[in-house]
Amino acid sequence: MRIPLIAGNWKMYKNHLEAVELVSELHPLVSGLAGIEIAVCPPFTALADVSRLLGDLRSPVKLGAQDVYPAAEGAFTGEISPGMLKALGVEYVIVGHSERREILKESDSFVAEKVKAVLDAGMKPILCVGETDTEREAGKALSKVEGQLEAALASLSREEMGLTVIAYEPIWAIGTGKTATPEDAQEMNGFIRGWLEGRFGAEVAGSTRILYGGSVKPDNAAELMAMPDVDGALVGGASLQAKDFAAIARSVS
Ligand code: PGA
Repeated sequence: MRIPLIAGNWKMYKNHLEAVELVSELHPLVSGLAGIEIAVCPPFTALADVSRLLGDLRSPVKLGAQDVYPAAEGAFTGEISPGMLKALGVEYVIVGHSERREILKESDSFVAEKVKAVLDAGMKPILCVGETDTEREAGKALSKVEGQLEAALASLSREEMGLTVIAYEPIWAIGTGKTATPEDAQEMNGFIRGWLEGRFGAEVAGSTRILYGGSVKPDNAAELMAMPDVDGALVGGASLQAKDFAAIARSVS
């Protein structure tokens, strides 16, 4: 039984004051929804205030972060450790988002270190994988994603894999308004589940949540989430509007 996860990736939007406003709007819209887990991933600067607010509201909404540095502490100017996030009540950490892989040149091995660091600190990674449009057109989508899975997850224990969430995010669909068809999303998510089964066995494969991300909106969420291997969504743009994010969550609940 996989409980769907709808996670909002706020990217570099919303300062701490705006973040508190957005969560105050969102909480009443989603707090009654059953059979679903909801998380928001604000920028680092808003985590403390959002965490406090979610606590005060006794909100079912979980707190996530968008990135982490894979070391407990040290001379890493500008970086944030797993322990710092954990102390703020962070439960999920997005790792290997394509914007970090592409813009900040994060390598597969660096992403793998982050996955491990998040798990070691007692939080759950949301590992992002996905292909570019050129790779898809060249018929290389599955092999690209397989390589990313191998690099980031192959060395995890079954217990660690059981705590990890995977998000398939085709790069050509992120922020572009071009959504993968439900069939495309199902094909890749089914492929990922097959890979998990080969590596970790049927039980882990059956219980791991595999999300879809890339231009998920209220009007396309239900058909994507209806696919058997799509267990929720990582939502960018639409998570910045409480009504839209709540509508996406409702279409899954
Ligand atoms: P989008 O972003 O929903 O704005 O396409 C998704 C993501 O980058 O996680």
